Amino acid sequence: MKGIILAGGSGTRLYPLTKAVSKQILPLYDKPMIYYPLSVLMLAGIREVLIISTPRDIALFRELFAQGDWLGMRFEYAVQESPRGLADAFIVGGKFIADQPCALVLGDNVFYGSGFSGTLRNSASLVEREGGGAIFGYYVKDPTSYGVVEIDAAGKALSIEEKPNAPKSHYAVPGLYFYDSDVVGIAKNIQPSARGEIEITAVNNAYLAAGRLSVEVLGRGMAWLDTGTYDGLLEASNFIATIQKRQGMYVSCIEEIAYSNGWISQKDLREIARSYKTEYGEYLAYIAEGA
Ligand code: G1P
Repeated sequence: MKGIILAGGSGTRLYPLTKAVSKQILPLYDKPMIYYPLSVLMLAGIREVLIISTPRDIALFRELFAQGDWLGMRFEYAVQESPRGLADAFIVGGKFIADQPCALVLGDNVFYGSGFSGTLRNSASLVEREGGGAIFGYYVKDPTSYGVVEIDAAGKALSIEEKPNAPKSHYAVPGLYFYDSDVVGIAKNIQPSARGEIEITAVNNAYLAAGRLSVEVLGRGMAWLDTGTYDGLLEASNFIATIQKRQGMYVSCIEEIAYSNGWISQKDLREIARSYKTEYGEYLAYIAEGA
């Protein structure tokens, strides 16, 4: 399975923070924001990642990750000329996906919770085995600014609506999606919505109409954090700091995940640790010595 991180958008909702730089490169406590969605793909076992960003910002991500070999991964980069909608990721990324299944994660989505790695691996292998699409539902107090999925008693999706005024459920659809390679053709056939975007919700509705969409509810022990506001950014940073300080274990530490996945050696991890003259580097050294 391949993975795409969409790190585009104009970021106007966070101005002036994002006037000169991409939102997905901003810090969440001790890491650039994009580390968090990248860790999700890595935990799903995905080693080949396409990063899509704006003509202005793509260089930043290249600077951050390069070809990816330092993580035992392979990174590609592509530019989205204008923010045409989330489903555009599959058109921009069509060649990268080729005939493989693919996960898409939004570059500003943060997930954290016990058992999440298992959930990710299950969804990835479901789509690899049986095709179709796999999405998630996450209970939120106010779902009106998200895709909203209505689920029946057996856990089957009944409807999905984008930013409904009168939501049919409290289940928001987080920015993490697994699809078979049909997604490229599906995305190409989507008409722009009222806000002028080709919506990921339209992709999900195409799979739903074909009876090929599975939904898994992420339970109460999961955190899916909002980074779309100043307060959301601050709260996410505090959340991560709280957990890391209490447990002494890092959230979304991509170097650690690469090591525990067996993608880099102990020597590689030690080298990265030495190059970061920070607490983060000390943590990596601690992991390398078999903590
Ligand atoms: C997008 C999707 C929406 C999804 C959300 C998750 O919203 O359109 O379905 O629930 O991401 O973060 P947007 O960020 O475009 O408002």
